Amino acid sequence: MDQVYQKDLKFDTLIYLIYINLNFNMNLIKCLNPIQKVFVGPYTKYSIGISNFILIKWSPKSMTKIHNHDGKDCSFIILNDTLHECRYTDKYMGALYSSKTLNPYIINTIRDKDGYHQMFNFDNKIKYSLHWYYD
Ligand SMILES: [Fe+2]
Repeated sequence: MDQVYQKDLKFDTLIYLIYINLNFNMNLIKCLNPIQKVFVGPYTKYSIGISNFILIKWSPKSMTKIHNHDGKDCSFIILNDTLHECRYTDKYMGALYSSKTLNPYIINTIRDKDGYHQMFNFDNKIKYSLHWYYD
C-alpha cells in the first residue's frame, strides 16, 4: 500500500514540476518574444506587448463581421495601402450609414457611440493595421 502511495506522490510531484517548468518557459517566451498571436481567422491579431494595442494582418480579400468594441473606443492606422470601412447604426447590413476607403498613416477613430463597423481588405495583397482600444 505504501509503495502505491509513494508511486502516486512521485507522479504528482513530476506532473507539478512539469507544470511549473512549462509555466516558467511560457512566461520566458512571452518576455523574450512579446508579439503573440491572439486571434487567427481571415485576419490575424497580434498582441505586441503594449497594453491595448493590437496589430492586425489582413489576408487578401478578407473582412471582419459587423462589430463594436465592447464599450471601448478604437483608434487605428493602416500601415500599408488601403482598407475599406463600413459603419452601421446597428448590427445588420440594413443599418449602413457610411462606407469609405481608408488611407495609410492617418489616424481613424470609431467611438462606442458611433455604433458598429466592418473592415474589408478588398485587394489581393496582405495589409497591416495598428489598433488601440481605450475607454
Ligand atoms: Fe473594429
